[in-house]
Amino acid sequence: MPTTSSAPGKVYLFGEHAVVYGEPAVPCAIERRATVRVEERDDGRLRVSAADLSLDGFTVEYGADDGVPNVDVPTALVEAAMGYVDAAVASARDAADRPDAGFDVTIESDIPLGAGLGSSAAVVVAGVDAAARELGVELAPETVAERAYEVEKAVQSGEASRADTFCSAMGGAVRVEGSDCRTLDAPDLPFVVGYDGTSHDTGDLVAGVRALREQYDFARDTVESIGDLVRRGEDALREGDVEELGRLMDVDHGLLAALGVSARSLDEMVWAARDGGAAGAKLTGAGGGGCIVALDRDDGAETALSLTPACEEAFRARLADEGVRAE
Ligand code: MEV
Repeated sequence: MPTTSSAPGKVYLFGEHAVVYGEPAVPCAIERRATVRVEERDDGRLRVSAADLSLDGFTVEYGADDGVPNVDVPTALVEAAMGYVDAAVASARDAADRPDAGFDVTIESDIPLGAGLGSSAAVVVAGVDAAARELGVELAPETVAERAYEVEKAVQSGEASRADTFCSAMGGAVRVEGSDCRTLDAPDLPFVVGYDGTSHDTGDLVAGVRALREQYDFARDTVESIGDLVRRGEDALREGDVEELGRLMDVDHGLLAALGVSARSLDEMVWAARDGGAAGAKLTGAGGGGCIVALDRDDGAETALSLTPACEEAFRARLADEGVRAE
């Protein structure tokens, strides 16, 4: 019998990038999930099939000894996805003390890959949980989060915060500052997402901000300003003040643009959402393209986004109360 787990994607209300340097961030899990099905096989090999990852679908098989895909050179996206899956499985083998366990892994996801909605974190969180359970080990969500963080950090060459993985494992709204990770009480905010149909490498974008921060004091100050803004945003979240949250999201988008991680498509979608009546809008995740998130109680922002050429898909996203779960 295969074992299946799912985990949600997320949007950042505030704080992406700055969180890498120890500032607080508040990501919120959304009801778009990655589902990972795992079945142990007795030849020690790892076979991964994926569909719906904004790709046509792929299958990759790893040998127990060589760790080399047995398919023609996969696309960069497939390679990136495989890196996460491979490391997630290794973490589960370690948790169960079964270093030679082989698996068939099937991934399905309605979170676009590399677009700022936490697709890789959701796949890693669900993958660690499912593979560990398949080997008879039940991990607490906090432990899954910590293991998934180690996986992301390794795959992203040491450049990752705990925010994406903790949010995906726990669900709801969370606050992450360094290694201090907590869940927050939050209302179901009226999130609207705009997606430009492109994907980008988180590691490259994080490295770009690091380089800017090393070169310019203004970039260092900008990162600190994002931290100040997040602390104000927490008060607004506690009070359920959507107008103030929106104003702070607008500022956060400007600060992220100053760090070089916005893009024409993201700016166009942000302005479309604001023109459509959103309380505020910003890019979400690593940036470079991908998704924006807006707050709007009415249909205006979603309609304006769907009429914007830069926007491939606009949709409402509900807060996901549940994090990782057995399916
Ligand atoms: C990516 O979803 C969020 C970043 O802050 C990187 C991280 O926190 O690991 C850009």
